[in-house]
Parts: sequence; structure tokens; C-alpha cells
Amino acid sequence: MKDFLDSTLTFYRDMKKQKVVTRSNPDFQKAQDTSFEMDLPSAGRTAEEVFEEIKNICSSGALVQHPRCFACVPSPVSPYSWMGDLMTNAFDHHAGCWANAPGAGLIERRLIQWMGGLAGYPKACGGLFVSGGSMANLTALTAARDAKLTPQDRGRAVAYLSDQTHSSVAKALHIIGFCQKQIRILPSDAAFRMDTGALEMAVRKDLAAGRRPFVMVATAGTTNTGSIDPLEEIADICRRFDLWMHVDGAYGASLLLSGQGRRLLSGIGLSDSISWDAHKWMMQTYGCSVVLVREQKNLLRSFSTHPEYLEDAKTEGSLPDFWDLGPELTRPARALKLWTTLQIVGTDRFGEMIDHGCRMAELAQEEILKYPGWEIVSPAGQGVVCFRYAPKELSDRECDALNVQLARELSDTGYAQILTTQLNGRKVLRMCTPNPETDEDDICSTIALLNHPLEHMRKVQMKMEAVSA
Ligand SMILES: Cc1ncc(COP(=O)(O)O)c(C=O)c1O
Repeated sequence: MKDFLDSTLTFYRDMKKQKVVTRSNPDFQKAQDTSFEMDLPSAGRTAEEVFEEIKNICSSGALVQHPRCFACVPSPVSPYSWMGDLMTNAFDHHAGCWANAPGAGLIERRLIQWMGGLAGYPKACGGLFVSGGSMANLTALTAARDAKLTPQDRGRAVAYLSDQTHSSVAKALHIIGFCQKQIRILPSDAAFRMDTGALEMAVRKDLAAGRRPFVMVATAGTTNTGSIDPLEEIADICRRFDLWMHVDGAYGASLLLSGQGRRLLSGIGLSDSISWDAHKWMMQTYGCSVVLVREQKNLLRSFSTHPEYLEDAKTEGSLPDFWDLGPELTRPARALKLWTTLQIVGTDRFGEMIDHGCRMAELAQEEILKYPGWEIVSPAGQGVVCFRYAPKELSDRECDALNVQLARELSDTGYAQILTTQLNGRKVLRMCTPNPETDEDDICSTIALLNHPLEHMRKVQMKMEAVSA
């Protein structure tokens, strides 16, 4: 056990010395090639031997907690989070009901109130810790369906998203029984924010056609660009047309922890529900996320069940059991690690970390603009910046291929990881910078490494010529 702890501490301490991306090691490759035929022994082995073996098997892939991982939404991790994880797993509370884990329940309830309070929800708001943003969206949308629709309404119900809404939202709508034609994907504006004019028009059109608009999903911190939908305007439309307003703040709700960030989220408290991932910008290990609802009764309506075998474990008090607020019955005490981290680090430092992440994206933008041929496609905001190498001599298609290649080759160096996404139909490089350990040198050296595109340009042109020949 001590060896395990020492080696994990060293792993985190030496993080910057490690490669961000490591391709599969030969042992792992061999196991994959043989359809994962790793043997299970009939007699046990020593813990040391097994630990060493697992370390080796798990040594490939991407280190999402690395200060130079800028791909997807990186997951910087506080050591106090994994310390909290150790406690959670060691105590192994059954956090489904108050009777089994009252202490863990109090911590979870207190955090829900605190996070709801930051968003502007009343003290009596409800919520639940779940495994991630996808589950938070699924939980909130189930509550939205049951609050706004009778079973007979479901066939004519319509949900509204933007073309920047995370894919987990449409997936959740599919899981809870809606089909593609019941989902309106509305265009975003030039700043990748929901176009509220288009939203209102779509709602009116659906009403005129006898459909039942029931939910609008706004995003606070879109995955592609970090953009924040106009929450106040959306809330006004939702109020006038009796729509449930869900805010997917999986990434951006953490801005509530910073003075500057909070102003950007004005209107979030007018929503009916919010998703908020602590494993994105609150330094938590996976999976730690929260679904918040303005009114707790809306979770109870959807998720409360009363089987005979749980009668004796039910709580008599006024607070409902957690298994009545979401899809899971047995669940770990997910709030414990976030509580541990917040208690040790303090909330002020969290705000500073958020501001630092935003500054790093702004620095990346300044650096990119120092080099010829590069353009900013979506300016730095909320710790995300999107850009593209697009010299005039190349066609759009050639630029697309070149930018994909630049991202791949950067990752192959192991020094940093950046992935591409697509904006306005074109491939762009996207940098997400929430890690408080990322420093100016990490940003500047990564951009400098990326900027060796002339040789790539020749390669891409040759490839394109070969394809069209
Ligand atoms: C805006 C947004 N919503 C939802 C999700 C899904 O969250 P998770 O991966 O925790 O399920 C993500 C993930 O990146 C996201 O960025």
C-alpha cells in the first residue's frame, strides 16, 4: 500500500516530465491483438506483482491531467480529490439513502445547496451527484419531460437545442423516448451562441402546427468554443412559452466560482435545471458531476420508487433519500472528494484557478497571432480558443487536412496534445486550458512547436495531388 501511494505521488509530482500522449506499449498491443486474452490465475499472485503489471498495461493513452493536455476538456486533478476518492472507496458508503450514510448525505446536501446558491437557486433547491455531464443531462431532461408533458403529449413534444449543444443532450432525449424529428437543432450566431430569434420563431411555428414545445437546452460553456448562450433572453422565451429551461453547464458552470466568470453567467439562476461537472474545472477525478434543479419535487416526480424491500431503510425525515432523486439506487458518496478538496484548498483559490485558465487561453491567442498564416476562428473565452493555419496559397480543403495533420503530429511528439474540431464547416485546432498548473512557457512552447507548417504544407499538397491524380 505504501509503495502504491509513493509511486502515485511521484506520478503526479513528475507529471510535466511525462509524455502527454503515449502510444500503446507492446504488451498492451499484444493483448489487444489476441482479443484481450490476458489470463486470470487460478491461484492468486502478490499485490506488488499485479500492481506493477497494471501500471504497465495502463501506461499508454493520454494524460488528461497533464498541464500540456489541451484536448477535449482536460481534467486537471487535485491530489485532495484522489485522496477523497481513497476515503470514498475505503469507507465504501452506500450513499443511496440517509439511513446507510447520514454523514455522506449531509455533505452531499450541503454541496448541492452551496452550488445551487452560487447559481442563484433558492435554498430549497434540489440536486444529486452523478457520474458525469451526460448523466446530469439525462437526469434533468427526464425531470423536464415529466414536469411538462402528460404521457399522451409525448408524441407531439418538441425539444430545442443549438448546433453547438453537446451530443449527450440529443442522446439523452433519444434514451428517454424522443425521436430525431422531435428535436430542433437551431443555428448559432457568429459568436456560436444560440440565436434567440430563431428559437422564438421555431417555437411559434411548432405551436401553430399543434406540437408541444417542452424543453430548451441552453449551454454555459459550449464544448467547441466555450461560448455562453444568452441565458436571460432564453429564460424569457421559456417563461412566455412554458418551456423547461435546462442549462448544460458541464464545462462552464464552474465560472460561478470566479467574480469575473459569474457575471458572464447572468440569468443561469432563472433556469429549471443545471448540469455542472466537477471533474472538468473543479479539479476532481472522474466521475464527479452535479445535476441541480430549482425545485426538488421535479426529481422526486420522475425517480421516486417504493419497493417493499427498501421499506425499512427509508428515511422518516423531511429530506428525501438520494435513490429517489435519480436513476441509481446503489451509488458511491461522490460528493466526499469535492468536499475534501474545497475544505483544504478553500473557495477563493478555486476562483483564481478559473481566472488563470481563462488567461492561458488569451495568452495562446496572443502567441498564435505572432506567427504569419494563422487565424483565430473563435476568440479566447472561458478557457477555450480555436484557430487555424490558413495561408492564402492553400485551398480550404488543403487547410483542413493540414490542420488535422498538425494536431496529430503535435500529439505524436508527446509534448502536448491538441485536437481539432469543426467550426463553420472547416477544421480548426482547439485549445482548452483549464489546468492551473499550465504556465506561460507551456503555452508559448506548444504554439511554437505547432508552428512549423511549411514542411507540412508541402506534404499535404503532395498528398492532395496524389489523390486527385
Ligand atoms: C458542454 C458539455 N456537456 C456535456 C458533456 C458530457 O459530460 P461527460 O463527459 O462528463 O459525460 C461535456 C463533455 O465534455 C460537455 O463539454
